[in-house]
Amino acid sequence: RGFLQILGRTTLVTLIAAGGGFYYITQLDRHPGAQLPFDPEKKTLVVLGSGWGTTSLLKTLDTTDYNVVVISPKNYFLFTPLLPSVAVGTLNPRSILQPTRYITRHKTRQVSVIEAEATDVDPINKTVTFTDNSEIKGTVSSTTISYDYLVYGVGAEVQTFNIPGVKEHACFMKELSDAEKMQRAFMDCVETAAFPGQDTKEVERLLHTVVVGGGPTGVELSGEIHDFLEDDLKSWYPELAGKVKITLVEALPSVLPMFSKQLIDYTESTFKESKIDILTKTMVKEVKEKSVVLQMPDKSIQEVPCGMVVWAAGNKGRKLTQDLMAKLPQDQTNRRDYMVMKGTNGSIFAIGDCTATSYAPTAQVASQQGAYLARILHQMAKKDNLISRAQQLESMKAQAPAAAAASAEGEVVDTKKKIDEEIQDINRQLGKIKLRPFQYSHQGSLAYIGSDKAIADLPFMNGNFASGGVATFLFWRSAYLSTLFSLRNRTLVATDWMKVKLFGRDVSRE
Ligand code: FAD
Ligand code: NAI
Repeated sequence: RGFLQILGRTTLVTLIAAGGGFYYITQLDRHPGAQLPFDPEKKTLVVLGSGWGTTSLLKTLDTTDYNVVVISPKNYFLFTPLLPSVAVGTLNPRSILQPTRYITRHKTRQVSVIEAEATDVDPINKTVTFTDNSEIKGTVSSTTISYDYLVYGVGAEVQTFNIPGVKEHACFMKELSDAEKMQRAFMDCVETAAFPGQDTKEVERLLHTVVVGGGPTGVELSGEIHDFLEDDLKSWYPELAGKVKITLVEALPSVLPMFSKQLIDYTESTFKESKIDILTKTMVKEVKEKSVVLQMPDKSIQEVPCGMVVWAAGNKGRKLTQDLMAKLPQDQTNRRDYMVMKGTNGSIFAIGDCTATSYAPTAQVASQQGAYLARILHQMAKKDNLISRAQQLESMKAQAPAAAAASAEGEVVDTKKKIDEEIQDINRQLGKIKLRPFQYSHQGSLAYIGSDKAIADLPFMNGNFASGGVATFLFWRSAYLSTLFSLRNRTLVATDWMKVKLFGRDVSRE
């Protein structure tokens, strides 16, 4: 009994201490201290975007080196890997957002965060024009600022290949608003199917979801919709559940071409068990209000009725990026080991999905590029400071007395010699600053495939370790939980997972 009492007390004290520690950390995070003001002597670094690349850059950047201005139409960072979970209500939308100011307010020097869309980059005059596209406007809603360095990280936009009806009738899965829209559309289909008097064919149409694109986005989303159906819809709409159908359409011979063959097979067999139909070598040719037009492997055309189409068929460069490329004389498609855009005299750096490099357009690449660039910018600032100090010393040297003189304390001071020594020291330090090219370190590929299963291709001892199943799903969850950018996000996501386990997903339609 005594032992149990001691154990009980120890547990209580530990819990109180952990709770107190947690509270202390969150309060520190919530109330950042004063920051250094902008320094007119420092160069201006303008950062376009608040996505994976630029947020990783901001986290690593030493803001004492520059006056930093961040411009993005979204005043937050979106953790895209968990976006499909938002689309079915597993996660609350706000759990995977991190306001950009939560990051910048913790930097040593203040960072200006502007919610606006860059509309023009002028690489000759080194200016950026940006516009407030939000609903509420002030007296100024468009302006131009100058930069010394520009970090270009605006990401990509959805590729529709100009296929008729995609923009008008399909949902996308790229932004937070897309996931929210899809959730509403899906529940609308379900509720409309439950409307009395619907004929069987119409119910089947409404409950048929077509996901276009067998890349990781399309596969993860199909898996999430299946979970929603199995875990929740079957309970709340028992009369409809058996009629819900998910079809994944992929133009290539297989889904997930970036994963190893055994994981592709595993995904396909899991989908078969989950009754998710995969149509490979099948291309969507048109999206209509109530159907999709498919070109089948034998080139025949079929029109398939459906209630909702989700378009996850890849991305392309933004117009701003195309405009910028057109202004630059050189071809930008080669690898840029230092992230510098050619023809900009070293003033524009591009990172992430907006670049045309040999790397895959993934969060992993973008975040590593962002962190790398932050280190490069620090080295450049250090180099600039040393060079300007050396120039200052050279001019001091020109004005210094030719011979050694006695100081007020009677000590003999040879100013020129002292200056020369300092210049030599600076040259030594400059020699040590080496800008090393970017090297990507692949940490592996992970994807959720539904039914509490995930797949992982992980680099292992110069080879590859492929695994799939429930254990990989737990690994997937812990990997993403630890990758989330803040304690706040981790807590919110973990709580959402727990809530869904206990109470299920919400089926109300906002
Ligand atoms: P983004 O993160 O897209 O950021 C671009 C930023 O630029 C945004 O803040 C945007 O608002 C801003 N912007 C846009 N236009 C302008 C403008 N005109 N002016 C200023 N700012 C602008 N990758 C993985 O490695 N693993 C995954 O599990 C994974 N899962 C994914 C799941 C989904 C559903 C999606 C859609 C993508 C996923 N990705 C994943 C890919 C990953 O999200 C992208 O590769 C990554 O976001 C690229 O980072 P980025 O910084 O280049 O662009
Ligand atoms: P994607 O480009 O990887 O896949 C799109 C797929 O759509 C392609 O396989 C293409 O063949 C197919 N497609 C295109 N047009 C079509 C049509 N008309 N009909 C039928 N199929 C068509 O795009 P996705 O999945 O959005 O991924 C984008 C990037 O984000 C990739 O680099 C991916 O690796 C990364 N990502 C990674 C994830 C992960 O690691 N878990 C999750 C989601 C995205």
